[in-house]
Amino acid sequence: MLSQNVENILVAQIEKEAYSSSLYLSMASWAEVNGFEGTAQWFYAQAEEEHQHMLKFLAFVNERGGKAIIPALNQPPVDYKDIRDIFTQVFEHEKYISQSINNIVGVCMEEKDFSTNNWIQWFVNEQIEEEKSVRGIIDKLNLIGAHSLYLFDKDIMSMRATAAK
Ligand code: FEO
Repeated sequence: MLSQNVENILVAQIEKEAYSSSLYLSMASWAEVNGFEGTAQWFYAQAEEEHQHMLKFLAFVNERGGKAIIPALNQPPVDYKDIRDIFTQVFEHEKYISQSINNIVGVCMEEKDFSTNNWIQWFVNEQIEEEKSVRGIIDKLNLIGAHSLYLFDKDIMSMRATAAK
């Protein structure tokens, strides 16, 4: 049986996972209409994963004698500046979710709820993976940025050489 504090924080997490799914769907849709097919696919898959996370919380709360609540969601942003802006926002969001999962661990410890603490460890590890994956994408984007600058630099050098002839 869950204590009220543990139940409350797990129910709050249902909302956060549902919002994550909705946020990533919005990003998928933005990427799709802006011609970034690969990025759109990445976000559609990510949205589905977040939906599964939400279901895991929902099932766990109900199995452990609590009552899952299906939340009303805020509308996620519709427009984004560019791909880098999107992934920067994803990284910030995932860090926020990691903090939120850590807070659940904290409440489990306070309440001496070792079974929920054991169960939530899957999410602790999942967050490490998610942050790592998004950080990897941002690193790639930064490399592309540097590469473009490198090409620009070569380009302007050859323009100078041509002009000198
Ligand atoms: Fe379900 Fe990306 O955290």
